Amino acid sequence: MTAELDAIAQKMVADGKGILAADESGGTIKKRFDAIGVESTEENRRDYRELMFRSQGMDYISGVILYDETIRQKAKDGTPLVSVIEKAGAIPGIKVDAGAKPQPFCPGETITEGLDGLAGRLKEYYDLGARFAKWRAVIDIDTTKHIPSYTSLRANAHALARYAALCQEAKIVPIVEPEVLMDGAHDIDTCYRVTEWALKTVFEELYYQRVRLEGMVLKPNMIVPGKKSPVQASVAEVAEKTVRVLKACVPTAVPGIAFLSGGQSDEDATAHLDAMVKLGGLPWKLTYSYGRALQAAPQKAWSGKPENVAKAQAAFAHRAHMNSLAALGKWSAEEERKAA
Ligand code: 13P
Repeated sequence: MTAELDAIAQKMVADGKGILAADESGGTIKKRFDAIGVESTEENRRDYRELMFRSQGMDYISGVILYDETIRQKAKDGTPLVSVIEKAGAIPGIKVDAGAKPQPFCPGETITEGLDGLAGRLKEYYDLGARFAKWRAVIDIDTTKHIPSYTSLRANAHALARYAALCQEAKIVPIVEPEVLMDGAHDIDTCYRVTEWALKTVFEELYYQRVRLEGMVLKPNMIVPGKKSPVQASVAEVAEKTVRVLKACVPTAVPGIAFLSGGQSDEDATAHLDAMVKLGGLPWKLTYSYGRALQAAPQKAWSGKPENVAKAQAAFAHRAHMNSLAALGKWSAEEERKAA
């Protein structure tokens, strides 16, 4: 069982490949569709996701994170979407957390729910074809309110570790995602300190829950200033600080680190990854597990119109290709323009 888990984890971070996060919950996909003037119906959600799964861009995708609805859906021609993904050479995965809910006695903070009954749900998802899963802990920063608190950080790390152990017991590779948000006005060094604290706590909890590090993938944020911070950072600074905190906190037994994009622009997310890989000398693979940074362009190109499907597929393929180059440390702004 451990060999099986390790092999899947390694495949998820294979050279030049990354993960497509297409696991938007009902509320989030509605928000994305509202922005492009598309009604969020079950059929529209299926059509949109199907177009990505049938794009050339899948050449650069090792795995796709799905939402409960999608893992059960069939393509227009009746083929299960899971089979479409497998045929494209990617591994189907599933979001299993039940979302971040207000945490008692921690005003302004959340705890991610979804542990109750998880063992049973994982068994069902395995039977539906999922070989990896995702759970996202949300860590906000508000230095004026002493957020994050020890209470919330510890509880979220503990839940991540409980989830990861349940996954591995079900032969499913856990993506462990402690996301430090970039929404605030904090500076880059505050992001560094909070991320360091979060990662140290998460790996301590993973140890106590006996999680096998070789059979998991870490999905962290990069070290960036808050969006509202007056001082923004260069690509070189983001890359240097992100690699430094990861080296300080992530054991080398972990096969790979697949970043979230977290609200960065498409090109920033690509440039940051590329700069980190170019630094070299890393003990784990670095790649992408982007949602917005892979999907913003195809969503806009599609806009819900069947006649735009080919254009949307090309937009997705371009973004995935650029991120693949970044994961190999071979991206450049010229490459971006050349291929566009
Ligand atoms: P973003 O890349 O849009 O942050 O989404 C990745 C993800 O899966 C967040 O949980």
